[in-house]
Amino acid sequence: MSGAPAVDGRGDPLPVAVLASGHGSNLQAILDRLHGRGEVEVVGVASDRPGARALERAAAARVPAQSFPLAPGEERESRDRRIGDWVAERDAQLIVLAGYMQLLSAAFVRRFERRLLNIHPSLLPAFPGLDAIGQALAYGVKVTGVTVHFVDEGVDTGPVLLQRPVEVPYTRDRVALEEAVHAVEHDLLTHAIRLVAAGAVTFDTEDPRIVHTDEGKLESVGHQRAGHPAG
Ligand code: GRF
Repeated sequence: MSGAPAVDGRGDPLPVAVLASGHGSNLQAILDRLHGRGEVEVVGVASDRPGARALERAAAARVPAQSFPLAPGEERESRDRRIGDWVAERDAQLIVLAGYMQLLSAAFVRRFERRLLNIHPSLLPAFPGLDAIGQALAYGVKVTGVTVHFVDEGVDTGPVLLQRPVEVPYTRDRVALEEAVHAVEHDLLTHAIRLVAAGAVTFDTEDPRIVHTDEGKLESVGHQRAGHPAG
């Protein structure tokens, strides 16, 4: 049975914050495909690393960007509180971890419970943690993939929102597999955010590990934007 939506559409477009540590190609997909097009507004990009390419991408899109390196002697919990305050000030309703390479403290995860999404380059629960693509190649699987999931206090253990498989090329070429996985990541993550923004994502009332999606809601959003009546 479906419960309340993961995110209550308080406003339209949905204010989204992105946390990223590195290259930021998933952030770029969000900026190019969703930001400022009516459904989603990226209200801030935060990084643990001052030099992250993701921050430059945000600045180029005129999105507020801020780095949060650990101050000398500072605990992770304190840095996470600063990040949480920053995204809350921007009224972000959904926080997307797009290559954020730090573990988030339990307090941060609880503060943004059911509003925190992560993307991971494998079909979880296979190959959690670092270098999922390398793990898949080393294991010799023929199919791996991409998972978008809500974040809980474990490492890549939260409720699954969307998954899509990717075949490992017969050459087992790492670069080719990475390219294939990243292309699927960009599609799957942007699709997941659109679903949340449309109020089309709900947690099962009896088993909150089970996440329901209603693809039909996206079509009705598209119709309304095209000037058709809801229905
Ligand atoms: C992606 O593979 C994502 O799944 C993982 O970190 C990588 C980030 O890539 N969590 P990018 O910085 O978005 O290019």
